[in-house]
Amino acid sequence: MDTFTVIASKRDARSYAADPIPDATVRRILEAGRVAGSAMNRQQRRFVVLETVREQATAAVTRPSNLERATLAVAIVTPESSYAGFDAGRAAQNMMLAAWNDGVASCPNAVADQDLLRRLLGLEDGERVAVIVSFGMAAGRDAQSRSADEWLGGADRVPLDSIVQRV
Ligand SMILES: Cc1cc2nc3c(=O)[nH]c(=O)nc-3n(C[C@H](O)[C@H](O)[C@H](O)COP(=O)(O)O)c2cc1C
Repeated sequence: MDTFTVIASKRDARSYAADPIPDATVRRILEAGRVAGSAMNRQQRRFVVLETVREQATAAVTRPSNLERATLAVAIVTPESSYAGFDAGRAAQNMMLAAWNDGVASCPNAVADQDLLRRLLGLEDGERVAVIVSFGMAAGRDAQSRSADEWLGGADRVPLDSIVQRV
């Protein structure tokens, strides 16, 4: 699919079809995260796929139902350094766009309880979970059902002119 259409049509989805995500697609999602750039190419992030700890981890995000409904949940773990949040964001967005290109919907989940995740995931001192991304096969939305311009027009976002400045 056209990359711009994938970007324009991506919305954060909090419920998903029950079908499992094919293993090859899960791998593409994780590879998309791995290949994202990072400050000085330090790549100080790792991706923890929540499996046995998933049920307990739901209590650590602000909206537990997102993780309960997901068929894949990936915690992005970073050091507590200055660029780590930006680097985590790049990896997360790469993953979500690669997923959406393959018909997989997703949503970032803010962490409400770092201490619980630290215990469940066995994090090192100085590490934190930047975000947990929930994924699942898309239920009811199809990126190719509209043009990129139609997706842009329908997006619940502020107008471009209100955020772009030229100096
Ligand atoms: C850093 C970050 C944290 C977020 N945390 C949550 C969250 O905890 N729970 C949730 O349901 N959505 C979360 N979201 C999703 C936002 O609510 C979503 O991006 C915004 O409402 C736009 O949604 P849309 O793409 O469907 O228009 C988060 C998004 C970001 C970027």
